[in-house]
Amino acid sequence: MDVNNEKKAIIELQGICKSFSVGKRTAKVLKGIDLSINNGEMTAIMGASGCGKSTLLNIIGCLDVAESGEYWLKGKKVTGKSQKEMARIRNEIFGYVIQDFALIRDDTVLENIRIPLDYSKKKIDKLRIDQLLKSLGLKKLQKMRVSLLSGGEQQRTAIARALVNDPEILLADEPTGALDSKTGQEVMNILREICNKGKTIVIVTHDEKIARQCDRILCMKDGNI
Ligand SMILES: Nc1ncnc2c1ncn2[C@@H]1O[C@H](COP(=O)(O)OP(=O)(O)OP(=O)(O)O)[C@@H](O)[C@H]1O
Ligand SMILES: [Mg+2]
Repeated sequence: MDVNNEKKAIIELQGICKSFSVGKRTAKVLKGIDLSINNGEMTAIMGASGCGKSTLLNIIGCLDVAESGEYWLKGKKVTGKSQKEMARIRNEIFGYVIQDFALIRDDTVLENIRIPLDYSKKKIDKLRIDQLLKSLGLKKLQKMRVSLLSGGEQQRTAIARALVNDPEILLADEPTGALDSKTGQEVMNILREICNKGKTIVIVTHDEKIARQCDRILCMKDGNI
């Protein structure tokens, strides 16, 4: 085993470009992004609204593909992979905390957390889910319907769902955006603990206070970093 494994780049982007066309107009959102993120690192991505942060996160998370440039994940080329392989990467490597939670409101906390397991081959036992509920302070809330939870509780549920598959990389788009500063800080403390356990985390945020708690801040402007 490589002793330097911890410091290795897990995500490497080179010259990543992405445009969106609406009608006849084409807007170039990413204009040749070069980026390297190390294993176990917590990285913040900042930048003005509309500068392409979510677009970049979606490409990193294999939810979208770049139109040019190259992407290596854990040293393997992602660029050019089939839909099926991309789906496998999404299920096995990534956990996603999406802007605005995207929880199923009529389902309970536990039902929401279990959703990714329907798409995964990984064997996750009840004990692990129980530990996850405990570590996020959701044990007592597990049978509650999501629509009855506070914003912070919903965000913790969304984080638990992102972690249930034990992903190597956690991608979080504005994980504190909808929360007051105290609840936002609690969520950050949880993310830091998760990072300390060896996960790689990429957070998109508008909040400098949040970004400063990361190991590294990347600022996006004019389609570049
Ligand atoms: N599917 C799409 N079709 C057309 N345009 C898109 C699409 N997705 C994003 N865009 C455009 O690309 C630009 C970047 O969008 P993106 O969502 O990445 O910004 P952002 O930095 O995440 O913004 P915010 O901070 O407001 O979430 C925006 O101008 C947006 O309108
Ligand atoms: Mg966004």
